[in-house]
Amino acid sequence: MLETKKFLNTLKGNKEFNPPVWFMRQAGRYLPEYREIRSNCDNFLDMCYTSEIASEVTLQPIKRFQFDAAILFSDILVVPDAMGVKTSFIKGKGPVLEAITDLQKFKNSKKNKEVFLSHLQPVFDTIERIKTQLDSKTALIGFAGSPWTVATYMIEGGSSKDFKSIKSMMYANEEDFSDFIDVVADYTAEYLLKQIESGVEVIQLFDSWSGALGKDEFINYSIHPNQKIISSIRKHYPEIPIIGFPKGASIYYPEYAHHTKVNALGIDYSMDMQWIVDNVPKDIVLQGNLDPIVLLGSKEIIKRKVEKLLDITSERAFIFNLGHGIVPQTPIENVEYVLQLIRDK
Ligand code: CP3
Repeated sequence: MLETKKFLNTLKGNKEFNPPVWFMRQAGRYLPEYREIRSNCDNFLDMCYTSEIASEVTLQPIKRFQFDAAILFSDILVVPDAMGVKTSFIKGKGPVLEAITDLQKFKNSKKNKEVFLSHLQPVFDTIERIKTQLDSKTALIGFAGSPWTVATYMIEGGSSKDFKSIKSMMYANEEDFSDFIDVVADYTAEYLLKQIESGVEVIQLFDSWSGALGKDEFINYSIHPNQKIISSIRKHYPEIPIIGFPKGASIYYPEYAHHTKVNALGIDYSMDMQWIVDNVPKDIVLQGNLDPIVLLGSKEIIKRKVEKLLDITSERAFIFNLGHGIVPQTPIENVEYVLQLIRDK
């Protein structure tokens, strides 16, 4: 059957003259319609767990810009929350979690899978609701954080600049730390399987902080757990396309793709896309990597950067995206301008 969704067709390895496009964090604070809904909700996680709201917010950027893919509105931190690690979002501060200080104690107190999945039921309901409303051209992406990235929040108790707490735990006892990452990977795989069962058509794994790891640790705590999650998904759903986004992976991007067996690689804004085109085999679909801050720049620079990216990737199966999430200050007209450049190419 001919694939009618451009995004899914590209993920099968087929090149489109005008590539499909979506933006990381496309449902968010740069949209006035998001800010309107957000202003009526005190608690960000409640938004994620209220299917009527989460589905509406997921569809906002699709209605406005007709992106080729919608991404489920949720957060990577619903996983620790469902695992029993108290999580909240504080205005102006970001996520705050009850930091884990003792890995053994955590292991002994962990929730069983049924309790974990029932906590996340509203997310699965959101997926079903989105699917009844999404048009036939737009694909739905499900996602999770990769174990390393989620673990940084669980152990640091929130965002971190130097990852000192998690790294000192990692270097203090590698065996306990590996076990801990394995536990997070197991829960993540269960969560993603249920997302697929509920109707998402693509999975993206966000390893936002993999760039903080040296080579050995990148292999152990980014590549290995992602590989494990992907192989357990493929056992049940061999055809589902999977995008890996190991932000900051730098020269390890090719190795990450080779070992995890992702279908597509999300490239961050720090990478030279030409290097990626030259060093990542052609059967891997590429996604990325416009610096989101370019969207705060002049039309002239936006045009130059977008055209350069389209030119470099013109011989590849390619999905246009940003190299990290869109920022709240982004003018809507600059998003429209980028889309026009891609679609009128
Ligand atoms: O549109 C989409 O991309 C889908 C929804 C989505 C959100 N977060 C919504 C969100 C996705 C895919 C994420 C992923 C996520 N969350 C990541 C990985 C991607 C990345 O950015 O590196 C990470 C590290 C998080 C953790 C997180 N969530 C932080 C650190 C913060 C606070 C910082 C911030 O941007 O406010 C969030 C909050 C968050 N997640 C918001 C949104 C729309 C903003 C919350 C608000 O409206 O106040």
